[in-house]
Amino acid sequence: MTEVTLHIDGVAVTVPKGTKVIRAAESVGIDIPRFCDHPLLDPVAACRQCMVDVPDAGNGRGMKPQPACALDAMDNMVINTATTSDVARSAQEGMLEFLLINHPLDCPMCDKGGECPLQNQAMANGRGESRYGGIKRTYPKPTQLTGVLLLDRERCVLCQRCTRFGEQISGDRLLSLVERGAASQISSGPDRDQVSYFSGNLAQICPVGAITSVDYRFQSRPFDLVSTTTTCDNCAAGCSLRVDQRHGDVRRRLAATDMEVNEEWNCDRGRFGFRSESDALTSPMVRVDGELQPVSWPQALSAAAAGLKKLDGQVGVIPGGRLTMENALAYARFASEVLNTANIDARARRSASAEEADFLQRQARGAGIAYDDLEKARQVVLVALEPEDECPMVFLRLRKAVRKAGLNVTAIAPITSSGSAKLNAKVVPTAPGDEVSALANLKMDADTIVLVGERAGSLPGVLPGAEALVQKAGARLAWVPRRAGELGALAAGCLPSGKGLAVDEMLAQAAQGKLGLVLGGVDLDDLADPSAARQALVQAPFVVSLEVRPSAATDLADVVLPVASLAQQAGTFMDWTLTARAVEPVVPPQPMTDRRVLAELARRMGADLGLPSYAAAHQSVQDLVTSRAALAPAPVSAVKPAPMPTTRSDGLTLASWRTLLTTASRCLDGADLAPRPPSVVAGPHAGLVAGTSVVVRGSDGVAVEAPLAIDPNAAAGVVWVPDAPWAPGAVVTLEPAAPTTPTPEVQGGER
Ligand code: SF4
Ligand code: FES
Repeated sequence: MTEVTLHIDGVAVTVPKGTKVIRAAESVGIDIPRFCDHPLLDPVAACRQCMVDVPDAGNGRGMKPQPACALDAMDNMVINTATTSDVARSAQEGMLEFLLINHPLDCPMCDKGGECPLQNQAMANGRGESRYGGIKRTYPKPTQLTGVLLLDRERCVLCQRCTRFGEQISGDRLLSLVERGAASQISSGPDRDQVSYFSGNLAQICPVGAITSVDYRFQSRPFDLVSTTTTCDNCAAGCSLRVDQRHGDVRRRLAATDMEVNEEWNCDRGRFGFRSESDALTSPMVRVDGELQPVSWPQALSAAAAGLKKLDGQVGVIPGGRLTMENALAYARFASEVLNTANIDARARRSASAEEADFLQRQARGAGIAYDDLEKARQVVLVALEPEDECPMVFLRLRKAVRKAGLNVTAIAPITSSGSAKLNAKVVPTAPGDEVSALANLKMDADTIVLVGERAGSLPGVLPGAEALVQKAGARLAWVPRRAGELGALAAGCLPSGKGLAVDEMLAQAAQGKLGLVLGGVDLDDLADPSAARQALVQAPFVVSLEVRPSAATDLADVVLPVASLAQQAGTFMDWTLTARAVEPVVPPQPMTDRRVLAELARRMGADLGLPSYAAAHQSVQDLVTSRAALAPAPVSAVKPAPMPTTRSDGLTLASWRTLLTTASRCLDGADLAPRPPSVVAGPHAGLVAGTSVVVRGSDGVAVEAPLAIDPNAAAGVVWVPDAPWAPGAVVTLEPAAPTTPTPEVQGGER
């Protein structure tokens, strides 16, 4: 790489050719004020706040003052910033004065007050008194941009960070710059009617208080907040998160910087999807005469221990996907060491096949694929994965690679989704279950990465088929689950082995009254058949539920043991890249974590989990992560796939995935996070017109009604329904809705 050496304020700096002067200055600790500059956005030089004096452009000749954010560092260049140059200082003061002419002096009630670059620079570099005596420009305020964002236009300094974010990063152009001259303003953009999954980033990168979040508005001051950096629990991306709390209540969540993972972004689910601890369970409960009664911890633990002992090993353990690895390890040991059972399965979700369990046993080994690898790959193939909905940071990184490195994305998908369109992906229209044939027709090599989504587990043959093809081509494969605790749980041993029962089998046995259950944070609505799961809990001889909040599972349990929320404890997640990510307590810790409760329960049952403290559990997790990273890839074993449902002559094959902001998500609280409006997508279909209401009906009689969108590129014989109440590959019918049908509604939407 060619390097250049320049002098900034007399300091010699050597940087790669093409580096902007503002970055070169940063590299030696010289601060140049800026508003529009952002290291992850292309320069636009809109605010002119970063003006520097250039006595020598590297060719022996000087230049008039230049914006450092748009000026390439050149060999032998001489740059003087406001620290050493009156020219630069005067230019910066002048620009600040212009910016403040129309900016309201409402810092005491502006949400950005206390952390506002404009406020800071006005204090540091501005004039003490304004020379402007006219009337400031005003606009009606605030303008509601989305359910979670507000815009106060008079505060805007027209830096265009928000418009560039939409164009360059997320691909949702919610905003644009309109009008000219003094009337220039930020307004709705061409994608104004779209739902962006990344809109919260606009509030974070706006350098003034023009874009603020509804959720945080007038809630707090930065100096009142206690900040903690932790890992987001909303998906398996592993995003670094800054959580701000005040008096023990989480007030906001922001993207923290981790250039290896989320860079400086996060998704709206990660940012706004949190709940306070105010509705958490406060007391253990035991069912007495059919009613749950609050009892003391010793009473509840004794009741749970006695009930589990009576089952004499006929117990199944279902830890949900929200667990830290420390807690997951405790469930695994509780099953094997205390209950003496192999019936443990963390896949409390739609797919839990033996074929998938076999595939997952080979995951969480070796070095994994990093986000950076996505940028370096020549081709990324998406199989049964919609990254915008199922792992938003993968989507952003792919979009960056497409835009900056010319990455080719191929989506083996039933329809052309909005995410595929924004990735400029080549879509291979494929019905669920046919992914392996589609993959076999692709040219893959060592520069190809195949990302397989969680729903592939419900499509027989797809996981081992994809694995075998990838291995043969010398390409690489990564499994991208939806939930943050999924990979950690499988590394910790929360998968059935040998004669161990899978989730569905455990629930089926429980429904026959043959199996008691220990549930750890299970969302029944995330299972393949939520009503059958409820029935299983009713019929099970004994159910212990460890939960943070009241839920359908706690309502039906015999003993309820309240456990610490993620905000109240430390731990570890393993993200889809197989990297351990630290979880930190962001509010005062609550000692009764799942691990501690299970350890106490084990003690009452005369056993020892061997995890007496958090430190011991954490050390075991670290050892586990290190030892799994050293393992060689496991050979692919042949498992006979179960047959796919046969499509009837009048039926279509269902395609579906969980959308990011689905209404039924249990983690969305407080903010009005609108999911994308439900619409059914299919190819051209005789007798059906785009925009009209249609009904998709499953063989169980359940129906989904929504407007129809026609995708000419959709796979033949397939209908796509967001958050469908049936597994992908199910046989459904599609018909026009009766004219009298009431308001569109999707039944069975889940997390
Ligand atoms: S709204 Fe904020 S981010 Fe957008 S142009 Fe104005 S100041 Fe910049
Ligand atoms: S930061 Fe350089 S012009 Fe805005």
